[in-house]
Amino acid sequence: MKVKIGIIGCGLMGREVASALSRWFVLEDHPCHPELVAVCDPVASRRDWFRRVPTVRLFAADHHELLNSSEIDVVYVAVPHNLHEKIYLDVLNSGKDLFAEKPFGVDLRAAKSISSEATRLKRFVRCSSEFPFLPGGQRAFEIARGGGLGRLLEVRAGFLHSSDLDPNKPANWKRRNETCGEIGVMGDLGMHVVHIPFRLGWKPKTVYAQLQKFYPHRPGGAGGNVICDTWDNATLHTGVDVDGHGIPMRLEMKRLAPGETNTWFIEILGTEGGVKYSTKEPKTLWTFKRDREQCWLRTDLGFNGPFTTITGGIFEPGFPDCFLQMWASFLAERCGKLGGRFGCVTPDEATMSHQLFESALKSQIEKNAIQINWI
Ligand SMILES: NC(=O)c1ccc[n+]([C@@H]2O[C@H](COP(=O)([O-])OP(=O)(O)OC[C@H]3O[C@@H](n4cnc5c(N)ncnc54)[C@H](O)[C@@H]3O)[C@@H](O)[C@H]2O)c1
Repeated sequence: MKVKIGIIGCGLMGREVASALSRWFVLEDHPCHPELVAVCDPVASRRDWFRRVPTVRLFAADHHELLNSSEIDVVYVAVPHNLHEKIYLDVLNSGKDLFAEKPFGVDLRAAKSISSEATRLKRFVRCSSEFPFLPGGQRAFEIARGGGLGRLLEVRAGFLHSSDLDPNKPANWKRRNETCGEIGVMGDLGMHVVHIPFRLGWKPKTVYAQLQKFYPHRPGGAGGNVICDTWDNATLHTGVDVDGHGIPMRLEMKRLAPGETNTWFIEILGTEGGVKYSTKEPKTLWTFKRDREQCWLRTDLGFNGPFTTITGGIFEPGFPDCFLQMWASFLAERCGKLGGRFGCVTPDEATMSHQLFESALKSQIEKNAIQINWI
């Protein structure tokens, strides 16, 4: 099935999508054949980068022009968070399906409005979160879902960056509440952290948040200093119920984590077994076994993603690979051919993440654990 794709927002992530779609032929037997045909960005130089992609025919400065094209089936949107709601709703109302970027609206209200419009118009909508599609993420998910870990002891998951340790790193829209959202780093990194826990049904009943801000000013693009008012580091101490037992689940989202360039990790520990995976060691899976002796086993994973590719089974996967796998999952699910494989973040899961992050903001203000009454 041919699927014509348009991209709104030609920055960092818009280009990653072009990269993924341009090597679609490495997938074996995928039911869809996507083609990137249109891009939109108000900045001409951003649009012009896409002239190297031979299939792109429409270069729009305004997203309405792209949405007016009857040629496009699916739109991927990667713009600052304060623009999500308006542009996502315009995509849905233009009759097209939507691959949204996280955090799926600037706040909980926006996420609910996008989600309910998607339901009303019966559009296929998913939200981006690629790391669980790495072989290590998939194995951790399968092991936890398999239920062989005994009684669960605790869960830790996180996504860590470090470049903000440099006080001279220039500010961009991600460092300002107005454009990034009051939830700050939780909106930037949080969806990646909750994707697997939410998919396993682990919805926190309570959250106690420790949120931190560091440098209040950074150099701006045009010289001078820019106010940076977003939360930079978030540690959420949550409690989930698993099989009738209360389990601590710690979720970490940090822009200032020394030495961590883009580290996504998950650790799930039980009385009989455990699993740990981190992109710090991208091909290594650690599994715990309690026998007469207790041991952690280290397994080299190879390249097995949910969707088979031509890449040799012993090779190492990286960011572009899990991004391609995520797109393979999005398009397979859209045409009803996911076949039991792992799916992208749903609008309900994205809205849940906002409810968690909004509760975390409340916890920070009240300096208390907050009970979450899920909507
Ligand atoms: N999935 C991931 O791993 C990941 C990583 C980084 C960012 N993101 C998300 O992707 C989105 C974009 O982030 P980014 O890092 O690509 O940002 P970016 O700043 O690199 O790119 C944003 C682009 O949007 C364009 N833009 C601004 N207003 C627009 C409008 N009205 N119409 C069309 N384009 C417009 C800007 O000119 C810019 O080119 C955010 O939601 C962010 O949270 C996801």
